Amino acid sequence: MCGIIAYAGSERAAGILYEGLKKLEYRGYDSAGLSTLGGGRITTVKRVGRVENLAPLLKDAEGCCGIGHTRWATHGEAGSANAHPHEYGPFSIVHNGMIENYAELRAELVALGDAFFSQTDSEVIVHLLGREYSGDLAAALHAVTGRLKGCWAIAALYASFNGFAVARRGSPVLLGRGRRGNFAASDMSALVGFAESCCVLEEDDIALVTAEEIAVFDGAMRPVERPFRPVEGEAGGEDGKGCAHYMLKEIGQNARTMRATCAALASFSRSEELTARLRSADKIVLTGCGTAYNACLIGARLLEWEYGCPVRACIAGEARCDPPRVTRRTVCIAVSQSGETADTLRAALTLREGGAYLVSVTNVGYSAITRVSDMVLPVCAGPEVCVAATKSYIGQLAVFHLISSPRTAASRRALLSSVADRVEELTAEGEYARTIARLCADSRAVFFIGRGADYDVAVEASLKLREVSYIFSAGMPASELKHGTLALVDPTVLSVVIISDGGTAEKCVNAVEQILSRRGKVAVVTTLPRIAESLGGRVDACWLLPCVPAHASAFVTATALQLVAYRAALLLGLDPDKPRNLAKSVTVE
Ligand code: AGP
Repeated sequence: MCGIIAYAGSERAAGILYEGLKKLEYRGYDSAGLSTLGGGRITTVKRVGRVENLAPLLKDAEGCCGIGHTRWATHGEAGSANAHPHEYGPFSIVHNGMIENYAELRAELVALGDAFFSQTDSEVIVHLLGREYSGDLAAALHAVTGRLKGCWAIAALYASFNGFAVARRGSPVLLGRGRRGNFAASDMSALVGFAESCCVLEEDDIALVTAEEIAVFDGAMRPVERPFRPVEGEAGGEDGKGCAHYMLKEIGQNARTMRATCAALASFSRSEELTARLRSADKIVLTGCGTAYNACLIGARLLEWEYGCPVRACIAGEARCDPPRVTRRTVCIAVSQSGETADTLRAALTLREGGAYLVSVTNVGYSAITRVSDMVLPVCAGPEVCVAATKSYIGQLAVFHLISSPRTAASRRALLSSVADRVEELTAEGEYARTIARLCADSRAVFFIGRGADYDVAVEASLKLREVSYIFSAGMPASELKHGTLALVDPTVLSVVIISDGGTAEKCVNAVEQILSRRGKVAVVTTLPRIAESLGGRVDACWLLPCVPAHASAFVTATALQLVAYRAALLLGLDPDKPRNLAKSVTVE
């Protein structure tokens, strides 16, 4: 959800904020804006749409201090009135999160005579700030947060203070120290190239930042130290892309992610402790949202084979409202690329409060979920910028493979290393992905079909296609076709059938026959040469993938179908990195 950045230093703030916003744009791209402070005056510029729309306005924004925002709309349409920053007299703020009691606060402020110019929940913050201020910006922001319900990362500017204040609850904020000045940002990628070291603010912290100094206060306004660490990572934004799109770049990093994750888990110091926990568990609950949940589907199969106890994959947004029963012997594994997804955090905390031991699987080592977990398993995908998750899914699958084979860990790592080689070969392949993408782009709907783990991949492939191409699609078990969905099959509908398990291949071939006899279009994606041979000439497309053992085929089939989704987006003239209505990190419930 929204990205925020703030700067106080020795250089022109507008350019720095603009560059920072470009790196944060994947968090939301409905509108962008910034306020700078120069000559005791705040100048605010904002535009609907992409950050680059701000470029012509930057010359108007003077000063060496400012705040910026890129928006994913929650309250109010994606118009310019709702773009941040919001101003009230000499104050300006940007906000990421959700103010749940904004309507009552707004009514109270309107009764006092305030006029509002947006439909956002955020605008009340700046009005309250103006009313609370009595000489200390940090104290005023603290007083304001005392009146708010919900979650927030806020950066605030006041025309007579050469710096800014920030506050956080539920939404991430990092502070950065650099040679050119001091910063605050929603994630570390925005600090790369600007700051040398950074710290993560804790819940309810308030910070007051100038060019020279950073002061942090806890929720009771006591001065506190938060540990600084080096800023790491690749630069996000256009400069860091090095490829036509992040999606293609990141799919190309699938193999690297598998190898890095294997290496990290090989030297993980708490492996034995984890295995012992899993061995004595009465139940294992896996939870996550979207792609992370889809990784849990595969994880549940793998863990159940190894540990024997019931293993359940739960959608985090559901689990938090209707949690599965847990005991002190239950292990909950929460999966999240960003580690900031509100639904996943809530579900994980609910299960932990119920007594479960909480293990998180995440790509972001400093994220919120790591701070509430009993144990953290790293996914070593590196920063993932494309809104559609690709390499992080592959990394999550690698984690599940490794923790589900403790007795044969070394040989499993060797297997994954050779599968990574196959994945690498695949990402260099374009022809079949283009052919199937063309079939998708020409279809009214696309069904992804498989059995067993192929069905789990089908669900993820379907999500990938939907989110980047906007084509209606669904993943389903091959056996279910005849129980209803066949009614939808006609020459305008494509079925992509995934076949990687010799044991169930014939059953999937039956499904292909049922579709063909209703004149539906079929593309087959298989790791089995005999299936490619028998179906190749009879279907609209058949992609024979590198042959790998069935239990590890998801790395290969999922990569192939990520490439198909990418190509479909391009054929339809869409930007796969920034699908409409979506954002990378969903920090609101
Ligand atoms: C994936 O392509 C999606 N953009 C989305 O489903 C995502 O996986 C989900 O929001 C969970 O995110 P997380 O892994 O950061 O928790």
